[in-house]
Amino acid sequence: MKLKALSVASLVAYKADVILVGVFAGEQSKVSFAADGNLSLSTARQAQAENFGGNVGETLVRFTDGSLAAPQAVLFGLGARDKANEASFRKALTAALKKAKALKAQHVAFAPLDPDAVAGSTSYGLARTIALYAGMVDYVMNHQKTERGGHKQEVRFKKLHFIVAADQVEAAFQGLKDGFAVASAVNFARDLSNEPAGTLTPAKMVKLARKTADDVDTIETTVYGPKELKKMGANALLAVGRGSDEPCYLIDMVYTPADGHYVDELTIIGKSVTFDSGGLDIKPADGMRHMKRDMSGGAVTLGAIKAIAALGLPIKVRCVMAPTENMINGSSYKPGDVIHTMAGLTVEVDNTDAEGRLTLADAIEYAKRQGAKKIIDLATLTGAVRMMVGDVGCCLFTNNDDFGNAIVASGFAQGEKMLNVPMWEEYRDLNKSEMADLKNSGGAPGSTTAAYFLREFAGEEIAWAHLDIASVAFRDRELGADPRGSTGFGVRTLVEFASRLAGK
Ligand code: BES
Ligand code: MN
Ligand code: ZN
Repeated sequence: MKLKALSVASLVAYKADVILVGVFAGEQSKVSFAADGNLSLSTARQAQAENFGGNVGETLVRFTDGSLAAPQAVLFGLGARDKANEASFRKALTAALKKAKALKAQHVAFAPLDPDAVAGSTSYGLARTIALYAGMVDYVMNHQKTERGGHKQEVRFKKLHFIVAADQVEAAFQGLKDGFAVASAVNFARDLSNEPAGTLTPAKMVKLARKTADDVDTIETTVYGPKELKKMGANALLAVGRGSDEPCYLIDMVYTPADGHYVDELTIIGKSVTFDSGGLDIKPADGMRHMKRDMSGGAVTLGAIKAIAALGLPIKVRCVMAPTENMINGSSYKPGDVIHTMAGLTVEVDNTDAEGRLTLADAIEYAKRQGAKKIIDLATLTGAVRMMVGDVGCCLFTNNDDFGNAIVASGFAQGEKMLNVPMWEEYRDLNKSEMADLKNSGGAPGSTTAAYFLREFAGEEIAWAHLDIASVAFRDRELGADPRGSTGFGVRTLVEFASRLAGK
């Protein structure tokens, strides 16, 4: 998508497939493109005829019939002027951009926006949100449909223009670029998570991490294979990986700002089970259907570190992934096995389908050995989170409420909702085992006990938060700017939180 911020003398002569015009509720009659006012009058009448009130989510397609160089204009509601905020603007943009998609527009242009579109906004901020949403709405799944099978190539946005005042061109262009960098990271995460497990193997994740380091000067990647993992004592990860023909790995990526100066450090860890059959405690067919997406957490962390590097934030970020399959063969780990984890804690395998927390236990220990003081892990860890948050948000668990609340606030600021679930201490004992220090499944209610399991490895000395994204990593419906399938949920929160730590 080609991005451009520009100022024009008059919209009348400006060429694009569709011009998108934000309109506040009750202010339809103020819309005007032409000096002679003709278009604005008929637009007001049409708006009345079609019940367009300028409310958030409403759009009105207006054929310009030669009165503008652009053949179509889409009016989109911004809601009440005095109530407009970032959340209403996101919703308004999503509706406008989806309408432009439906019209098969390739060149879309935003007419100048009233600064009231988001209370306290800047051209940079408006432009950033515009490009973020244009990028996310433009996503097409990396499916393998063919022309032979009757599939027609989707029409994509080719040009995104934002018309602003002359002195705002530079700031708006920077906003477009930054917003699009985040959208690209979201779409990258969606692509990884949608990709079939047959091709998105642990080795493929290693390849992608190495490619990222090759492409981006400020990111370095280190990869540990099975031999090194054995030396390291990553026996929990190795136990999960043993039942597969595909070797497992631990990937460590570090972003350091180009000038070497950073004001804070953050570690992000993503569950990266590239296929979860359940192991010997095999999943029923329905439960296994989407388990190619069990690496969504890893995809999100990989996307986020790319975006953070693209924005050049003055913060050091480490991303840890432990890609593996959870499969079944003659050497699979078994219920009743006792594992000596890298941290030194022993774990009885109560259920081979509670594999994610085992891989994360070693990943967290590895991160701590690298000096991590602030850790966020993202994992499709337990189906039970859906009982709390449906498919709308994720659940957050933390050992440090200030840290957790700051992450929740970053999430809401970006439209990613999360529920801070209390970790009542009574849950902790449910992970106790007769045979070992811990067992890997504390039974129902499963999400908090799973979080407590991870907390045993994070400890209480460092700030740690766990985002259980099993509710939102993928959906069987389209929702807002998210398509059906994988959503990339978490990328925006991580980028926002990193920006705040960096003081931006
Ligand atoms: N990957 C699954 C969790 C999951 C379920 C993610 C549905 C996305 C959608 C995880 O490894 C798992 O199997 N969890 C079990 C834990 C149980 C065996 C203690 C679960 O949630 O049932
Ligand atoms: Mn599982
Ligand atoms: Zn899993």
